[in-house]
Amino acid sequence: MKDFKNKVAVITGAANGFGVEFAKECAKREMKIVLADIDSENLKKVDETIKAMGAETLAVTLDVTVYEQVQALADKTIERFGQVDLLFNNAGVVVGGAAWEVPVRDWDWIIGTNVNGLVYGAKAFIPTMLKQDREAYIVNTASVAGLLTSPGLTIYHTTKHAAVALTESMYYDLQAMNSKIKMSVFCPGFVQTDLHNSYRHRPERFAADPQVDPYYATESYKRTLEVARHLIETGMPIDTIANTVFSAIEEEKFYITTHPEYEPIIGLRAKNILEGKNPDVSIFNK
Ligand SMILES: NC(=O)c1ccc[n+]([C@@H]2O[C@H](COP(=O)([O-])OP(=O)(O)OC[C@H]3O[C@@H](n4cnc5c(N)ncnc54)[C@H](O)[C@@H]3O)[C@@H](O)[C@H]2O)c1
Repeated sequence: MKDFKNKVAVITGAANGFGVEFAKECAKREMKIVLADIDSENLKKVDETIKAMGAETLAVTLDVTVYEQVQALADKTIERFGQVDLLFNNAGVVVGGAAWEVPVRDWDWIIGTNVNGLVYGAKAFIPTMLKQDREAYIVNTASVAGLLTSPGLTIYHTTKHAAVALTESMYYDLQAMNSKIKMSVFCPGFVQTDLHNSYRHRPERFAADPQVDPYYATESYKRTLEVARHLIETGMPIDTIANTVFSAIEEEKFYITTHPEYEPIIGLRAKNILEGKNPDVSIFNK
């Protein structure tokens, strides 16, 4: 996709981090923009910023873990703007910790957001895009965590591998039917966003309650929050991200990566699989 002017973009996770950068770039490219997020307070502020850049916007508060709300987002988009051309399935959360310690509620929350959110986005928007029968584009935000594995982040890796796999598989299906819908999967390394504060964006039904589950009062849980904070705050500055992603959309580049330093780990994992070697945690101590 090279021509953006007057086209309609929908962005989930638009109230913080990457979503805000995507929205600003859409506004610069004179698109109409639907901003969607669970964080209604920041969403309002971002909506004001994007409107002040001259863009026509629609702000929708939603929870991407609920299919009906994602379908309602698609319906509102068509009702307001009559079409959808570019979808950023971007809302996401991070949870650290050992798989067997983390409460089931956290598994449900992160799978609901990082995996089901993408599935619901596809189900709600792709049929309309197919009916439009003209160029359309979807960027699913996964992570470099979907291309490799590492200790301490089992749930996040699980969801991000699923995000890469489901995007690749849908891409094949769309290609096989000669569809005009193109896709990319965005796989960044650590970037300075609000991701370490994911607990702020828990839907009510996934609330972390130490009365119900003592894990949330443990040192182990506090350590996972601290590790996430450190990784995000020492990550790459966010200012080049929108440019990287929009260049990839223009070139129809499927895998969008940001951190070449992870390539040896991705390569080693593939090599180990092909050579029948076991994963070795010591590579992360080098
Ligand atoms: N920042 C990084 O280092 C990094 C690296 C790789 C991948 N990612 C991915 O990038 C995406 C965007 O994250 P970010 O880094 O900009 O973090 P962020 O926290 O700044 O933004 C994420 C946004 O998603 C929204 N959100 C969370 N749960 C939601 C829900 N149930 N319904 C609707 N909106 C919801 C949040 O309110 C927030 O505005 C995520 O999928 C994340 O996993 C981030």
